[in-house]
Amino acid sequence: MRLISTSVIAAALSLASVSCAQTINGQYDCLPAGDFTLCQNLWGELSGVGNQSSTLISSTGDAVSWSTTWNWANNPNNVKSYANILSNTAKGVQLQNIASAPTSWSWTYETESEGLRADVSYDIWFGEAPSGVAATSASSYEIMIWLSGQGGITPVGSVTKPNITVAGFQWDLWSGPNANWEVFSFKTASGDITEFNVDLQEFFTYLTQNEGVAASQYVQAIQTGTEPFTGNAVLMTSSYSVALNSL
Ligand SMILES: *[C@@H]1O[C@H](CO)[C@@H](O)[C@H](O)[C@H]1NC(C)=O
Ligand SMILES: *[C@@H]1O[C@H](CO)[C@@H](O)[C@H](O)[C@H]1NC(C)=O
Repeated sequence: MRLISTSVIAAALSLASVSCAQTINGQYDCLPAGDFTLCQNLWGELSGVGNQSSTLISSTGDAVSWSTTWNWANNPNNVKSYANILSNTAKGVQLQNIASAPTSWSWTYETESEGLRADVSYDIWFGEAPSGVAATSASSYEIMIWLSGQGGITPVGSVTKPNITVAGFQWDLWSGPNANWEVFSFKTASGDITEFNVDLQEFFTYLTQNEGVAASQYVQAIQTGTEPFTGNAVLMTSSYSVALNSL
C-alpha cells in the first residue's frame, strides 16, 4: 500500500472548504464561494457616504457563511447596495418543473445602530429564458422575501395582500412595477425571521395560483443578502443554503 502524499491531501482539503476568511470592499468586487458567488454590489453608493465590506467566512459546496459590515449615511430612502450571495446551481428550471426548492438561512445582526434602515432579503429573478442576468431586459419578475425590514423602509409598490400565510410565516405582499419587470415582495409581518428553513416552492406556487405568474417562467437567479439604506451594522450569516430540485 502506498502513502498518499500530503500535498494531495492538502489539495483535497482546499477543494472541500475555504478556511481562510477573505474580505472584499470594492464597488463591484466578487468572490467565488463554493456553489455561490459573494458580491459587494454597491450599485447605489453615490446616493450616500460611507463604506461596506463583505467577508467570506467559509464555504463547503452547498453551504456558505459570510458577513457584511456596512456604514451608510444620507438619502435615507435610497438603497446603497445589495451585498449578496448568488447561487450558481439553483437556476434554469421552469416553475412547472420544480419539485422543491429547499433553503435554510441562519443570520443575526452582530451589531446594529439605533434606527438602522435596512432589509435582509432574498432577491429571486424569473424570466422567459432559462438563463438571464438579474435586473436586466431578461427579467420578467423580481420576487423578494424580506426576513427583516427595519426603520420604516418599504418594498416597491404597495401592499396588495396584507398578512398572508406562506410557508408557515405571515407576510404583507407588496407589488408594483420596476423598470421592465414586475416586483412581488413578501415582507415579514411578524418581525425578524432569523432562522428560516422553508421550501421556496410555496412562494412560487402562491404566485402562480394567485398572482397570474405563468408556470412556464424560469427561475433565472436566486440571490440572498442585505439592502442597507442608513445606519451601520455587522450582518452575520452563520449558514445558508438553497437548491432547486427538478421533477
Ligand atoms: C467606514 O466609515 C466609518 C464611519 O465614517 C469609519 O469610522 C470607518 O473607519 C470607515 N471604515 C473604512 C474601512 O473606511
Ligand atoms: C395575521 O394572521 C395571523 C394568522 O392567521 C393571525 O393570527 C394574526 O392575528 C393576523 N394579524 C393581523 C394584524 O391581522
